[in-house]
Amino acid sequence: MRRLAPLFSALVSTILGASTVAACSSADATGGADAGGADADSADAGSTFLAPACSETSLLDSITSAEAYDYIELRYEFVSSIGDGGGIPDAGPPAVEVLAKKGELCATATDKARCLEAYAGVGTRFGTPCNGVYPDCAAESVVVNQGDTFRAFSKLNLVGPFLAPIDSPAEAALAARLQGYRPLCDTNTPLALPGGSYEVRAVVREPCFGNKYGYRLDVSAGGIVTEKSKELIAPASGVCGRRPEGLREVAAFAGATSAGRFFAQCTHLEAASVPAFLTLERELGALGAGPKLRAAARRAARDEVRHTKMMRSLAEAFGGVCADVELAAVGPRTVFAMALENAREGCVGETYGAAQAAFQAQTASDPRVRSTLAVVARDEARHADLAWAVDRFLAPLLTEAERREVARVRDEAWAALTTSLEQEPSAHLREVTGLPSARDAALLLSGVRELLAAA
Ligand SMILES: [Fe+2]
Ligand SMILES: [Fe+2]
Repeated sequence: MRRLAPLFSALVSTILGASTVAACSSADATGGADAGGADADSADAGSTFLAPACSETSLLDSITSAEAYDYIELRYEFVSSIGDGGGIPDAGPPAVEVLAKKGELCATATDKARCLEAYAGVGTRFGTPCNGVYPDCAAESVVVNQGDTFRAFSKLNLVGPFLAPIDSPAEAALAARLQGYRPLCDTNTPLALPGGSYEVRAVVREPCFGNKYGYRLDVSAGGIVTEKSKELIAPASGVCGRRPEGLREVAAFAGATSAGRFFAQCTHLEAASVPAFLTLERELGALGAGPKLRAAARRAARDEVRHTKMMRSLAEAFGGVCADVELAAVGPRTVFAMALENAREGCVGETYGAAQAAFQAQTASDPRVRSTLAVVARDEARHADLAWAVDRFLAPLLTEAERREVARVRDEAWAALTTSLEQEPSAHLREVTGLPSARDAALLLSGVRELLAAA
């Protein structure tokens, strides 16, 4: 099998060349600028949750409040008391990222300068400052300005006072969004129900390309959001790193910006990859693997230590809060269990992750991100080579039925990855981190699979 690094770098150049041509001929070459706006035709046609995510702009545009307002915004807010280690100033004002806005700030204020000053101090104070990774130190909220006054609504003080009654699909979607769901919008959702409430279909993805769930929600006229059903629609796929067995998933990553949260997630997975490779090296030794294979696993563990440091400094630079890696004790594993993990995490996760890092190294707007990802891309391509070498080493040690199961699990992981990449990253996240649009990610993934088939 040929080395993957040069193949991936040629693939990225081809895709970027094609994207440039497409961008010249289509204003929507990157799939739209709104965060969460997935291409409708890229979704799985068999899924109940195939509608595109409601754009943040559309959520605000359709608000019909009985109360007048000059300005309204949807924002992400993060409060931290971390003074060291996390790189976040100690208990300062909340870090704010405005996701969408409407109207003119302080348009009818009696004293505009004082009004703008008051705006700078607006915070929903939805939770206590946090010195770790707690969901309540970060949330989305709606800030409303009328004249000299400001009000803010978040998941802890419901949307009722401003929005009630909820009497449009977009308002129902906004109520769900403030409760942490990603509502979907098309002609079938949100759907007005006879009793005056709305059914909203929504998705939630766990951090680190974790499990993706689909929800049917009931949103009452008073803005109360109730879960009617929840189903797993795409299992987790490891793109930022190689997840070891026993890894405790982090419920939520916090940070001042979406890029900071993204790099905090990557830091966690890079750090988790270190014990994954150390275990692999030990297990390969026990199975009598040659010195080259074992040395490659040891080197990969060292690479991941370096990646962790590099990703952590990116996370801190963008206001992300990193979480410790916690591993549950795992006993000795069978060759079959090793092969399954290697198929999922290495042959699929790290292989695509290497190609994605090569893409990010070319397209991120921030030079620190580009230089870090260039190193990560080169190393991860070597880890992908290692995963496929381990796959070849383990295959003769498995039964025919086990080999078939490993192939099935690998196919399942490719399918899960395909689904997870259909979610469009926000325009801001794409620009800063260089993450591919859903359209480019699909091209990258199919290119990777073609290269593997031919290699
Ligand atoms: Fe890595
Ligand atoms: Fe890796």
